Amino acid sequence: MSKRILLQLLFAALAVSTKLPFKAHFGNKPAPFLIDVDQSFIEETRVKASLTRIATDLVQHDPRDGPLVQNVSAIKDYWTHNYNWNKAQKQLNDHLPQFTTTIDGAGNYSHPIPLHFVHRRSSRKDAIPLLFVHGYPGSFIEVDRVIDGYSNPPSNETAFHVVAPSLPGFGFSPAPEYFGLGLREAGQAFHKLMLQLGYNKYLVHGGDLGSHTIRYMAIDHPESVRALHTNLWYQVPNKQDMDRFNAKNSTAEEAFLINVLAAFRLTLLGQRQVFENQPLQWAYAATDSPVGFAAWVIFELQAGSPSYSWTIDELITWTMLLYIQGPFGSARMYKELQLRASLTTFTSRWASLSLPNKALSRSVKHPKDWAPRQGNIVFFNSYSFGGHFAAWEVPNELVADAREFMKPGTAAWDAYHK
Ligand SMILES: *[C@@H]1O[C@H](CO)[C@@H](O)[C@H](O)[C@H]1NC(C)=O
Ligand SMILES: *[C@@H]1O[C@H](CO)[C@@H](O)[C@H](O)[C@H]1NC(C)=O
Ligand SMILES: *[C@@H]1O[C@H](CO)[C@@H](O)[C@H](O)[C@H]1NC(C)=O
Ligand SMILES: *[C@@H]1O[C@H](CO)[C@@H](O)[C@H](O)[C@H]1NC(C)=O
Repeated sequence: MSKRILLQLLFAALAVSTKLPFKAHFGNKPAPFLIDVDQSFIEETRVKASLTRIATDLVQHDPRDGPLVQNVSAIKDYWTHNYNWNKAQKQLNDHLPQFTTTIDGAGNYSHPIPLHFVHRRSSRKDAIPLLFVHGYPGSFIEVDRVIDGYSNPPSNETAFHVVAPSLPGFGFSPAPEYFGLGLREAGQAFHKLMLQLGYNKYLVHGGDLGSHTIRYMAIDHPESVRALHTNLWYQVPNKQDMDRFNAKNSTAEEAFLINVLAAFRLTLLGQRQVFENQPLQWAYAATDSPVGFAAWVIFELQAGSPSYSWTIDELITWTMLLYIQGPFGSARMYKELQLRASLTTFTSRWASLSLPNKALSRSVKHPKDWAPRQGNIVFFNSYSFGGHFAAWEVPNELVADAREFMKPGTAAWDAYHK
């Protein structure tokens, strides 16, 4: 081999390995992966955190303006002096078997799609493959508290082989380099991933963005997606619902959901509109300020899960899992959704799409009567506790529901085995 070719090879290798601040190789079949973020990047991020200039608030704080100055300052201090990424990285690596692969395009997106994913096979021969899709501002870390329960249940309960991919732009799945990879295409890529792993029929689970992804999958791959379990069954009230609400005649569940939706419009809709419109404009600041980006993440997490006590370690680690590769790709996913009109008009679109599969809804205080308006619900469970990030907040309840939904003799079990 000539010197010139060697140099070119070396240069190509460097070009790939220096692009992202973590070690990764994306081949054409699944290969084991360990999180290994460059120490120089971790230290640079800590220094940036220590140099954060904190915003000045009004004398009287309005919670809709953003998180409290005290809370963001506490994150800055903790990140500067106490936060230990290497410990978080080790815990994830010790607990979650991870892999990388490449999918050769999906649907209308013809470019290769490098993916990072968690894959734990149950030791049970009768285990059912389960694809778990995370949301925003989450990542594959959401599977951490449910993976043991899914894959290693008591012997008389249903077991699952668990596959939890990172959406492109999240965790360690690199963001798409080209326009056109939205949640539908991500779902098409995840289906190809399941086929690569030898699973040609399976159950899907998701909340938040994951719930949108798995609905697309159920529609695009009805032969494989035999059942669907979600903790976000987004349902907008119709005119009669609102009339009864205005007459103070709603049930407690209906009133709760209507109030949640109104609060969402007041607090979190603005964030989404930034992502839908100028994600890059936003990303310059967020990419350069880890604490500034954390303030964005914690606002969403605390609004979504107000009764859950997020620790500062959790908040920073969740932030890091979007920050390490840069927060642009994950934010831009909302633009892809908006361009396909799938989030802004999704209620009317999805109401007309009846799911080909038996569907399950497990949702926090969701009105039971409303759920079947969007599909064939064969299992429904509603809790008076927990929030938007169910797999993190109420993992045991979520796993128990999946087992119950998929136990022998149920409609979902039959749909899987036929
Ligand atoms: C935010 O700060 C307030 C006031 O110091 C404190 O009561 C609250 O516990 C903090 N919240 C979090 C999540 O740290
Ligand atoms: C490709 O895009 C067209 C136009 O938006 C759409 O009708 C079609 O369903 C898409 N195909 C796939 C496989 O996603
Ligand atoms: C499995 O056994 C436990 C303990 O006896 C019981 O509570 C549970 O209902 C059983 N599950 C099924 C699916 O029969
Ligand atoms: C309130 O609900 C009850 C029971 O469903 C119904 O009989 C009554 O007409 C409702 N009142 C209004 C104002 O909608």
